[in-house]
Amino acid sequence: MRGLELFSGVGGWHFALPEKANIVAAFDINPAANATYELNHGLRPSAKELANLPAERLLEHQADTWLMSPPCQPFCRMGNHQGLEDPRSRAFLHLLEILDLHPPVSLVLENVEGFQNSDAHLRLVKILDSHGFHRAEHCLCPSHFGIPNQRPRFFLVASQNPLACPPRPEFNPMPVASYLDQREDSSLYLTEAVLAKHKPGLDLVRAAGFRTACFIGGYGRRLVGSGSFLVTEKGIRRFSPSEVARLLGLPEGFQFPEGLPLDKRYKLLGNGLSIPVARWVLNHLNA
Ligand SMILES: C[S@@+](CC[C@H](N)C(=O)[O-])C[C@H]1O[C@@H](n2cnc3c(N)ncnc32)[C@H](O)[C@@H]1O
Repeated sequence: MRGLELFSGVGGWHFALPEKANIVAAFDINPAANATYELNHGLRPSAKELANLPAERLLEHQADTWLMSPPCQPFCRMGNHQGLEDPRSRAFLHLLEILDLHPPVSLVLENVEGFQNSDAHLRLVKILDSHGFHRAEHCLCPSHFGIPNQRPRFFLVASQNPLACPPRPEFNPMPVASYLDQREDSSLYLTEAVLAKHKPGLDLVRAAGFRTACFIGGYGRRLVGSGSFLVTEKGIRRFSPSEVARLLGLPEGFQFPEGLPLDKRYKLLGNGLSIPVARWVLNHLNA
């Protein structure tokens, strides 16, 4: 595979790829995402705005596969549901035009649940069908793979070649404890004043439990509805970025650029992909 990673973030698709596959170019407008991507994958993504990227800038890489996680706000349960009307869909719309003119061999997309009922999905599927792509669609969650984290997402995988039908992995559910840092960071504990105000709204979990809520980009700043908080003997604390990264299935060696503030780390992780789920989806291309 010669892959293009579009809306590349920290490179979740790159981490999920089998060894023989390769990402030949990545694209993202976020400098913190691009610095993190380069540190972990040794490839600097292009920071060009995808909404007006000339088709040649994609085609010059002679990629056969497009891997993409377009911005999800236009399709979110909590969002405005404007779909393709939302200005944040401009880049995706532009890519659909290029896709129609210059279809790659395969395309893989991840987005929030709800995308499958959107005008964007309808437009994408129409293009794929008109070019005779085989297509599989799934709503998947890391909790289906034994990981104690809720992150329901929609996945579409399409190819001009027949698709494989990978068996669901066998797993033993793992407790939250398996994903915790060996040495905890005491600065992650919430103060009495914060707890007095917000405790009733917090999603509280314990190390022995088998569930955490979806960690969103605002976890570093928001408390309610942003992810789970861990109850320990010492109090209640946030999960550290490395614990969230572990729950996403990022490798132990995953790093952020030195000095990247905590809220930006949570933001990048909150945009991220569940790697074991993404890896399973990619197995469809191994027919
Ligand atoms: C949902 S995140 C993708 C995360 C990625 N899959 C990962 O593993 O980290 C969407 C990404 O698209 C980028 N993005 C949003 N609009 C863009 C645009 N118009 N052009 C290029 N990148 C864009 C954002 O900076 C963000 O990193």
